[in-house]
Amino acid sequence: MKAIQVGLLGLGTVGTGVVKIVEGHQEDLSNQVGSPISISQILVKDRSKARGVPIDAAKLTEDPWEIVRNPDIDVIVEVMGGITTTKDYILEALERGKHVVTANKDLMALHGQEILAKAREKGCDVLYEASVAGGIPIIRTLVEGFSSDRITKIMGIVNGTTNYILTKMSQEGAAYADVLKEAQDLGYAESDPTSDVEGLDAARKMTILSSLGFRANVSLDDVSARGISGVSQEDIRYAKRLGYEVKLLGIAERQDDMISVSVQPTMIKTGHPIASVNGVFNAVYVHGEAVGETMFYGAGAGELPTATSVVADLVAVIKNMKLGVNGRQAQLPYNVVKLKTDEQ
Ligand code: NAP
Ligand code: HSE
Repeated sequence: MKAIQVGLLGLGTVGTGVVKIVEGHQEDLSNQVGSPISISQILVKDRSKARGVPIDAAKLTEDPWEIVRNPDIDVIVEVMGGITTTKDYILEALERGKHVVTANKDLMALHGQEILAKAREKGCDVLYEASVAGGIPIIRTLVEGFSSDRITKIMGIVNGTTNYILTKMSQEGAAYADVLKEAQDLGYAESDPTSDVEGLDAARKMTILSSLGFRANVSLDDVSARGISGVSQEDIRYAKRLGYEVKLLGIAERQDDMISVSVQPTMIKTGHPIASVNGVFNAVYVHGEAVGETMFYGAGAGELPTATSVVADLVAVIKNMKLGVNGRQAQLPYNVVKLKTDEQ
């Protein structure tokens, strides 16, 4: 049986997890999709670097176009990060009829509409479950699970690095800079961790969640964001004394035709379910008019949890290929309704 050929852009934290899962779960995955899955080419910046998984060196390339323009590749899995040039690779891949799976929230929050429009034009899938809340299947849940409902609020902890830092500061009295370094070593932080600690990563994720959840065209400029770099050990101690934990919270609300989306450090009463979300874990609370309150919890970053979402998207793309229904995925509700934001 002909294998599905995957081109993997990036072999860092997430890319390594993708290789481990595709190889480790190969039998089960190929049973699910009806073909073997082969990661046939892998983009890296430095071919001589030691890798966290055994890799056939012949598969490694430092030239992204070699993969994107390879006619044998069916699906591109983008886990290299970056925005401008990465967008060019993805658009070129789509132009050539390849499907795309990405974990890149920066790209999807800023250029999602352009990428999804190209995918629609070319009859290709672009899936991005891993871009928000790592291993929690929150995008699929919002788009498919709640397609029947009218969502009024999405709130939660959507950045693992800052939650890891705040937890260690609160529970162990650890110093901010030391814990940030730990989060970087564990592969949780972005290549430039400023986007984690200043709230931009969470703002990009809230842009994606609110666009999908409210079926609206929310842009990053609509989201007000403040991070945790100004939160001191003293703030955390003081909050604790009053019976609160400090968490970096994303809040997206819809009231009538108004949407507001923000990210900020917030004091949450000890005992509230969100106050006990610790370490790299994320939690997303969703309120719908019909369903009421729901909450989703799991690892928000890291190698295998994130790769779980990436490979689940890969499986979905391949199943769609078998059915001949690519490009019809539900994750395209941008612009279905245009709602007013606070700033307008
Ligand atoms: P990472 O560890 O820094 O890995 C990036 C990989 O891409 C590396 O293998 C690097 O090559 C390669 N790469 C980067 N730029 C390149 C270029 N210009 N040319 C060739 N190769 C290039 O990053 P990561 O943590 O895996 O994150 C990847 C993506 O997933 C990002 O969009 C991130 O936001 C997203 N994400 C990450 C997590 C997480 O927990 N880490 C969770 C969810 C989403 P070398 O190995 O040779 O340096
Ligand atoms: N840097 C991100 C975080 C990775 O810490 O949540 C997961 O998107």
